[in-house]
Amino acid sequence: MTVADFVVVANRLPVDRVEAPDGGEEWRTSPGGLVAALEPMMRSAHGAWVGWAGQPDVELAPFEIGGIDLIPVPLSAQEVAEYYEGFANDTIWPLYHDVIAPPQFHREWWEAYVTVNRRFAEAAASAAAPDGTVWVHDYQLQLVPQMLRELRPDVTIGYFHHIPFPAHGLYAQLPWRDQVLRGLLGADVIGFQRAQDATYFLTAVRRRLRYEVKGSAVSVPGDDGATRTAIARAFPISIDTAPYLELAARPDVRARAAEIRASLGNPDRILLGVDRLDYTKGIRHRVKAYGELLAEGRLDVENVTFVQVASPSRERVDAYVHLRDEIELAVGRINGDHDTMGHTAIRYLHQGFPREEMVALYLAADVMLVTALRDGMNLVAKEYIATRSDNRGVLVLSEFTGAADELRQAVLVNPHDIEGLKEAIMTAVEMPVKEQSRRMRALRRRVLDNDVAAWSSAFLRALDEVHPH
Ligand code: G6P
Repeated sequence: MTVADFVVVANRLPVDRVEAPDGGEEWRTSPGGLVAALEPMMRSAHGAWVGWAGQPDVELAPFEIGGIDLIPVPLSAQEVAEYYEGFANDTIWPLYHDVIAPPQFHREWWEAYVTVNRRFAEAAASAAAPDGTVWVHDYQLQLVPQMLRELRPDVTIGYFHHIPFPAHGLYAQLPWRDQVLRGLLGADVIGFQRAQDATYFLTAVRRRLRYEVKGSAVSVPGDDGATRTAIARAFPISIDTAPYLELAARPDVRARAAEIRASLGNPDRILLGVDRLDYTKGIRHRVKAYGELLAEGRLDVENVTFVQVASPSRERVDAYVHLRDEIELAVGRINGDHDTMGHTAIRYLHQGFPREEMVALYLAADVMLVTALRDGMNLVAKEYIATRSDNRGVLVLSEFTGAADELRQAVLVNPHDIEGLKEAIMTAVEMPVKEQSRRMRALRRRVLDNDVAAWSSAFLRALDEVHPH
């Protein structure tokens, strides 16, 4: 049995199943920023990571990879449908992203969410050393902090919410709104991406539970009549910048960027969008604005190309199936109307790519379009900035991303305003080099100074202040 001083609990384990040289299967750490940020801490403090391995009906024993103990939590096919695809991704996800898609409320999904959250809490409770620290992540596991506190009152509990927290009028729709607030308040520190998310959460706590709130501190009453303090505030997440800087400087990656430009016909301007195929990302609005610019003759496929990478995501949830149809119809129409034999209007890729290829694409792109309708943070915006070591390139960024709070020198846009979006795209396409580098320099300073290591140390410091060991 693993006993770890520092335990991370997240829906997914930070590993991918890959084919081994002998034809069998093995695990490889996935290159996510969260693992990179927590790795040093995990190694020095004897760390464990509790999460789902990503496949239904697979029971795996705990295993170790790269010095981290991985503790798989099994999910049955029905739990994947009801807890993951259902409650997490068809109730909470749309509700917390401003109901861009209508959230579905089903009591069986809630039951499955409670059951699975309890399983994660129990796994964390048996993995944590006496007086250890457990850091719970994201909306799939909002009940874990309270469940864990009941099982293990000795441990320090942090929770970080990677997605937005909605305004009270929307949050109040959730039939289980009070239970979820109590679940989160089991943590000593509840971290959000933006100050606004923390404010919305504190408003919900005040209005629904009537707990006393002073600044970012909530007085949480316990069963014994005593109260404890939980802190709720913003800790904007970032990326591990080092691999992006290294890849952007590598001659083979730079050569690949030139090859990409050449294969697109060396246009004057390449526009790029990189998203999971998700209705929160504003891909349809972006495609529409670009299509109108072509139709109006303000852009011309002979010298401008738009590359949209839309990586497959949550493909069994209806809203995602419909979104894919809509986007592919729109892209097909625009290409049909505007392509020439040698040039394409939109190069659309419904695929995921390794990080090397993504960096080559970032290097090839003159304009990065991050026009989400709502996004907790948006790390693609930060990745693009990190790779632009020549200070060239323009970021068009939606006001409705967490990143917009920090990246003020981007071309900020309201993606619902198609005319405004078109103006922003034209501003970016026509921006003089001097102005590009003035803005990019400031953006780079921000991203390079506030990387994911700075984020995790700020969070853990706050945790230590509330619950010193
Ligand atoms: C967002 C969420 C993460 C989630 C990721 C991918 O970034 O905040 O918790 O892991 O999307 O989604 P998936 O459903 O594939 O885990």
